[in-house]
Amino acid sequence: MKVINIVGARPNFMKIAPIMAAYDGYPDIEPVLVHTGQHYDERMSELFFRQLGIPEPDINLGVGSASHAVQAAEIMKTFEPVVLEHKPDVVLVVGDVNSTIACGLVAVKLGVELVHVEAGLRSFDRSMPEEVNRVLTDSISDLLFCTEQSGVDNLIREGVAEEKIFLVGNVMIDTLLRNKAKAEDSDVLNQLNLNDNDFAVLTLHRPSNVDDVTVFGRILDALEVIQNDMPVIFPVHPRTRRNLNSPSLGKRVNAMMGLRLLNPLGYLDFLKLMSSAKIVLTDSGGIQEETTILKIPCLTLRENTERPITVEIGSNQVVGTDTRRIIEAYKQALDSSWREPQVPCLWDGRVAERIVKVLLDEL
Ligand code: UD1
Repeated sequence: MKVINIVGARPNFMKIAPIMAAYDGYPDIEPVLVHTGQHYDERMSELFFRQLGIPEPDINLGVGSASHAVQAAEIMKTFEPVVLEHKPDVVLVVGDVNSTIACGLVAVKLGVELVHVEAGLRSFDRSMPEEVNRVLTDSISDLLFCTEQSGVDNLIREGVAEEKIFLVGNVMIDTLLRNKAKAEDSDVLNQLNLNDNDFAVLTLHRPSNVDDVTVFGRILDALEVIQNDMPVIFPVHPRTRRNLNSPSLGKRVNAMMGLRLLNPLGYLDFLKLMSSAKIVLTDSGGIQEETTILKIPCLTLRENTERPITVEIGSNQVVGTDTRRIIEAYKQALDSSWREPQVPCLWDGRVAERIVKVLLDEL
């Protein structure tokens, strides 16, 4: 069985790594790895391949950044000849980025079976580009692998046949569990002169937060208070960095002595930083899940989450972008009465193995 596996953007790399490794035990599967090139900076891409031991991509489409329409069109134009040449039995896509839907569409139009890993997650907010990518990818997929029960329920509600849906757990957590010990050796705390459990970690990159000066301003108002209380370590995504170059935001950020801006970090340093933090503030999807496993309080700076299990039993709280609400939630999360999070069902480090077995059984 020839399987073309797609990666494009940073959050895809930790999802594909364990799947590529799991194929090793099955000589009947011939995997091909395609990188669309949606993310291309060394710190947003190659570093993750090296640290996570992902094999060098067989093909790099080299599409780079553009508007969503141009980026998706470029991916489709360059991926179609790859499918025609390699004649795969299956195309496997992960997550919810533009590369996911663009390659998925090419596959189904050429009659190739499409498999979606991390299916069914819904924020019910169609203004999020990822939500559109999720709904569309799920609607054309032949096999759908879910991380949590809400994903299964959403798909069934949308009319997806039950026999196509598999609740297998969270493949990104395979990567976390596999690399946790290695991350312990990271020197990042020393390098940044930080004490264990005595700082906050911040990530922000959603267009709705960082492309809107008013929303970004409200978040900065809250950070002003928090960085007076403890250092806030902020590895800055390229999109966010571009916006911080604007004079008004840039000046405010530079004036906050406790808010420490860094370049994007590699997987191991970031994992060490998160596991040692007192609290994490983020608008990322994956970080809500990783902090749940690490049992670190997480405040999600969005109005919704497509990963409700992290709130129901995990360490996550969805707090939005209102200044007062963020500060209140921050204080509460540091309170000693904070509820101990639980581990969601099947987030056990053996998810990739389950996925590969289902592929062999079903296709
Ligand atoms: C993409 C995903 C988002 C994911 C995020 C993780 C979509 C719709 N969005 O958002 O779901 O959470 O990746 O990072 O697919 N840039 C660089 N170097 C790079 C990549 C990007 O400088 O290696 C800059 C470019 O200016 C680019 C901007 O970042 O225009 C945005 O990149 P893009 O891939 O369009 O979206 P992300 O915001 O990264």
